[in-house]
Amino acid sequence: MKIVTLDGPSGSGKGTVGRLLARELNFNYLDSGLLYRAVAILVIENCIALSEVNNIEGIARNMNLEFSSENNKIFLDGIDVSNSIRTEEISIVSSKVAQLKSVRAILHEIQRGYLKGNGLIADGRDMGTVIFPDADLKIFITASPEARAYRRHKELLGRGESVSLRDLERSIASRDRSDSERKISPLVPAVDAIIIDTSNMTVEEVKDKIVKHYRAT
Ligand code: DC
Repeated sequence: MKIVTLDGPSGSGKGTVGRLLARELNFNYLDSGLLYRAVAILVIENCIALSEVNNIEGIARNMNLEFSSENNKIFLDGIDVSNSIRTEEISIVSSKVAQLKSVRAILHEIQRGYLKGNGLIADGRDMGTVIFPDADLKIFITASPEARAYRRHKELLGRGESVSLRDLERSIASRDRSDSERKISPLVPAVDAIIIDTSNMTVEEVKDKIVKHYRAT
């Protein structure tokens, strides 16, 4: 089975590109960030402190996250979380949850479970380095912090969440730091990854470029 990994920071455009790629190649799609976000939702809902690692492990092990590819809805333990899972609050808490080694180990197994069908587009931070080190093609997508904050701002506004661009730039820079500098599975390109800077590219251009690389594998 073919595996294409798509790693990079938030706002780099990998989510949109990943979905387009999965459709074009008729592959499964794993948005691994959603798993960390789902744990964050349950941590907040159950008023669990980030120091209560055992409880967080239990949440990660027992949660039931489902996707409906027909209408792009996301269900967590049967409840529609399609909107709430992408809020800024969840972005911030999920970045903290992602620093817990044992939680990452539990999610590691869940992520490997997405290997089904023709192939897999795996989107995240450590897909090419840790989860699927033998992938057929590894892409690391990046974009300037300004371009990423602008895209995220547009996305949040589209969903009725008003956050200032300046605050978003700060929040993105701080999450970049914690995602890149953490000891376990930091956000770094795999040594054999192809790096694409999408700051001045459209989603279609990025997708076409990756398909070209894929066809050449
Ligand atoms: O891609 P995203 O913004 O939805 O990810 C949410 C958080 O989860 C982000 O702060 C980094 C973390 N994450 C991770 O550590 N490893 C992954 N494979 C995916 C996401």
